[in-house]
Amino acid sequence: MILAKTEAAGERGLLPEVLAFTSSLPLDRQLLREDLAGSLAHLTMLARCGIVPRQAALAIRGELLKLWDLDPLQLPPEEDVHMAVEARLTAVLGETAGMLHTARSRNDQVALDMRLWLRDEITGLRSEIRQLQRAFVDLAVNNIDVVMAGYTHLQRAQPVYFAHHLLAYVEMLERDQQRLVDAFRRVNVCPLGSGAIAGSTLALDREMVARLLGFLDEKGRPVVTQNSMDAVSDRDFAVEFCAAGALLALHISRLAEDLILWSSSEFGLIRISDAYTTGSSLMPQKKNPDVAELARGKSARVIANLVALLTLLKGLPMSYNRDLQEDKQRLFDTADTVRSTVRICAAMLRNLSVNKAACAAASADPALLATDLVDYLVGKGVRFRDAHHLVGEAVALAERKQKSLDKLQLTELRTIHEAFGDDVRDVFNLKQAMARRTGTGAPGTAEVRKQLARWTKLLPEGTKP
Ligand code: ARG
Repeated sequence: MILAKTEAAGERGLLPEVLAFTSSLPLDRQLLREDLAGSLAHLTMLARCGIVPRQAALAIRGELLKLWDLDPLQLPPEEDVHMAVEARLTAVLGETAGMLHTARSRNDQVALDMRLWLRDEITGLRSEIRQLQRAFVDLAVNNIDVVMAGYTHLQRAQPVYFAHHLLAYVEMLERDQQRLVDAFRRVNVCPLGSGAIAGSTLALDREMVARLLGFLDEKGRPVVTQNSMDAVSDRDFAVEFCAAGALLALHISRLAEDLILWSSSEFGLIRISDAYTTGSSLMPQKKNPDVAELARGKSARVIANLVALLTLLKGLPMSYNRDLQEDKQRLFDTADTVRSTVRICAAMLRNLSVNKAACAAASADPALLATDLVDYLVGKGVRFRDAHHLVGEAVALAERKQKSLDKLQLTELRTIHEAFGDDVRDVFNLKQAMARRTGTGAPGTAEVRKQLARWTKLLPEGTKP
C-alpha cells in the first residue's frame, strides 16, 4: 500500500521507493487519535487567538472529528500519520485545510503525539503492575503458613516464608511503579508551539493548548516546554520509559526464572496450571513452562530497545533529525511487550498451586538453622566469630557421625563448647525459629503478616481483575 505512488506524495515528487523507505505510517498510524486531539486543541487556540477565521476553524473541526473513529488502516498512503490526516482534510475541504498547520511543524507535532500516547500508556501499565502486585499478595495470603528454603548462590541458605519470597517481587514492582510515576512528570509537558525549531512569529497561546490537552501540574497549572530546540529534539521521555520498562522486564524475567526452577521435578515446589504450559511435539510426558520462559525471553528485546534508543540519540546534532522517527518502533514495542508480559504473569500467578509438602520437606532441613545456632551461642555470651567457627565444628561433627545437625547429643555438642545447654533443642523448632525473626523486613511470622496487611491495604480489592 505504501509503495503505491499517491497523488499527494507524488505531487511532492517522492519516488515510490523513497516513500516506502521514509514512511513511518505503518507504525505511527496508531497515533491517529493523539494526532487528532493535538490538532483540535491547536485549532481551537488558533481560532481564539484570531489567527484562523472562525468559520474555517469550524469546518476543519468537523472534519477532524469525523476521523476520530476511522480505522487507521484506511489512512491514505503518506509519509506519516500527520501528512495522512492533512491529505484527508484537503481531499474534503480543499485549501481551507491548509490553515490547520499554521505555526506548527511535524517536529513539534510528533513530539506532542508521542507524549500524549505515552501518558495513557504509563497510566495503563501502572494499573497492570498494580494487578500483578495484587496477584502476588493474594497468592501469599493463600499460602500464609508455608515455609520454604531461601537460597543464596542457588544453595539452601535459611528458612523463609513463601509469602516473604513473593513480597520481594511486590517491592521490586513498587519501585517500577514509582519510576513510572516519576517519568510521567517529564512526559507531561506540552511541546506544541515550538514549531520546526524556533517557534513562531505569530502570537500563539501555548498555555491554552497545554490546558486543553491536560498538560497540567499538581496545582492545575499548564506545563509547556521552555526551549523550542530542546522540545523538538528531546526524546528523554521515551528513553526514561524504555529504561523503566527494561528494569520492569528484568524483574519479571527473574520471577520467571524462579517459577521455572520451582516447577521443575527437581524442586517441585509449585505447579503452573496447564493453561500456562505447553506440551512437546515429540515427548508426550512434557509440560513446559513456555509462558514463563517467554516472559524471561522477551526481556531481551525490551533491554535491546533501550540500548537502541540511546544509540539512536547519542550522535545527533541539534535539533530535529529524521533519525528520530526510528524511536517509535522501540517505544511501542517496549510498551506492548511489558504490558502483555505483566498481564499474563498476573494470570499465571492466579492459576498456580503450591506444593506445601515439598516446601515443608525443604524447610525441615535443620542445616538451614545453623545460623540460628550461631545466634544461640552469641546469646550465651560467645563472640560471633567464635560462635560461627564452633557451629562449623558442630556441622563437621554431625557429618562425621552421619546424622543431621539437630540430632547431635547435648554431650557431643558440649565437647565443642560448654555454652551449649538443654535449651539448644528449641533452636531447631522451625515454628519458634520463624517467630524469632522479628526485625522490620525479616521473614518472621509476625513481620510477614504485618507486611501482608500493609500491602493488602495499599492494593485495594479493586485491583483484582
Ligand atoms: N514521521 C516523522 C517522525 O516520526 C515526523 C516528523 C517529520 N519531520 C520532518 N521534518 N520530516 O519523526
